[in-house]
Amino acid sequence: MISPDCSAEYWGKNNVAGAFEHIPVLIEEVVSLLRFKPDAPARLIDGTIGGGGHSARLLELYPQLELLGIDRDQAALDAAAERLKFAGDRVTLVRGNYSELADAAQKHGWGDGVDGILLDIGVSSPQFDTPERGFSWRADGPLDMRMDRRSQLTASRVLNRESEAELCRIFRDYGEIPQARRLAAAVVARREAKPFATTSDFTAICDEVLGHGRPDRHHLPAPTLPFQALRIAVNDELGELERALPAALRTLRKGGRLAVISFHSLEDRIVKNFLKHEYAECVCPPGLPICICGKKRTVEILTRKALTAQDAELAVNKRSACAKLRAAEKTV
Ligand SMILES: C[S@@+](CC[C@H](N)C(=O)[O-])C[C@H]1O[C@@H](n2cnc3c(N)ncnc32)[C@H](O)[C@@H]1O
Repeated sequence: MISPDCSAEYWGKNNVAGAFEHIPVLIEEVVSLLRFKPDAPARLIDGTIGGGGHSARLLELYPQLELLGIDRDQAALDAAAERLKFAGDRVTLVRGNYSELADAAQKHGWGDGVDGILLDIGVSSPQFDTPERGFSWRADGPLDMRMDRRSQLTASRVLNRESEAELCRIFRDYGEIPQARRLAAAVVARREAKPFATTSDFTAICDEVLGHGRPDRHHLPAPTLPFQALRIAVNDELGELERALPAALRTLRKGGRLAVISFHSLEDRIVKNFLKHEYAECVCPPGLPICICGKKRTVEILTRKALTAQDAELAVNKRSACAKLRAAEKTV
C-alpha cells in the first residue's frame, strides 16, 4: 500500500508572506552521511537546491567544499542564491532537471567526478503554500502544479486533455486510489460541461466521488491522494528519479556518496530497489549452477533501513514526518 506524501497536509505552516521559508528535513542525518575531508577541496551536487538549507550547512562545515546546485523552479534558485551568498564563488546554481545532473557536471568541468550528491525530492514548502502554484487543495488557485513554470504541461491541461484511461492510470499508479476509474470518468464527464481551471474545481470532484469530508484509508482528506497523483504526473516525478539515480552513480567518484530523501513510498521504493540492485553481486535468475550475469557490486549501502525524522525534528517540522533518507557510497 502506498504511503502518501503527508507534507502536503500542513498547508500554510511555512507560509510567511513574500519569504521562501523551507525547513530542511533530516539535516543532521544528511550531514553525518555526506562527509567530506575537512581540509581538502571537495565537490557536491545538490540536485534539488530549493532554499539551499542543506547545502548552506554543508558549505559552512567544509570551507573548501564547492557546490553545483540545481533546481527547476526559478523561485527556489533565487532563494538559494540569496541564502548561499556567503559562500561566494564556491557556489554555482543552474536551472534544470536533476535527471540531467551528469550533463550539468560535465558542463561545469566536473566530468571527472564529484564527492557527494544530494537529492531531496519533495515539493518545497513555498511551492505547497503559495496558492498561485496550485499544489494544494487547501487553497483556491489556478490548477497549475508545475515546478518548472516554463513547462507547457499544467495540472488543468492533464485533467482537460488526457484520455479517461490515462487519467485512471494516473490516479491508480500515482495515488493508489481504489475509485480511480470512477474518478477518471467523473473528470471526463465534468470537463465536457466546464473545463477544469482551479484547484477548487478538482477538489469538488474528488469530494463528490471519494466522499466529502470522509478521510481515506490513510486518514487523509479525500483530495490529498488525487492531488498527489496529478502532481506526480505533471512533473514526471518518478521518471525523473529513475533517470537520475544511474546518472548520479556515474557522476560520483569512487568513495563518493549519494543521499536521497523521498516523501512517499513510490519514490522510496525506486531508491531502495536501485540501491539493492547496485549492491547485488549477482542478478542471475535463481537456480543457475554458476553466475553468468557478470554483475559487480558498485555501492556499499550506508542506511540498512531508511532513516526517518526523530521526535525533536517532528516537533518543529511536521512536514518531516513522511521523509525517508537512504544513502550509499560508490565502491568502484
Ligand atoms: C524539498 S525541496 C528541497 C529543499 C532543499 N533541500 C532545502 O534544504 O532548502 C525540493 C526542491 O526540488 C526541486 N525539484 C523537484 N524535482 C526536481 C527535478 N526533477 N529537477 C530539479 N529540481 C527539482 C523543487 O523545485 C524544490 O525546489
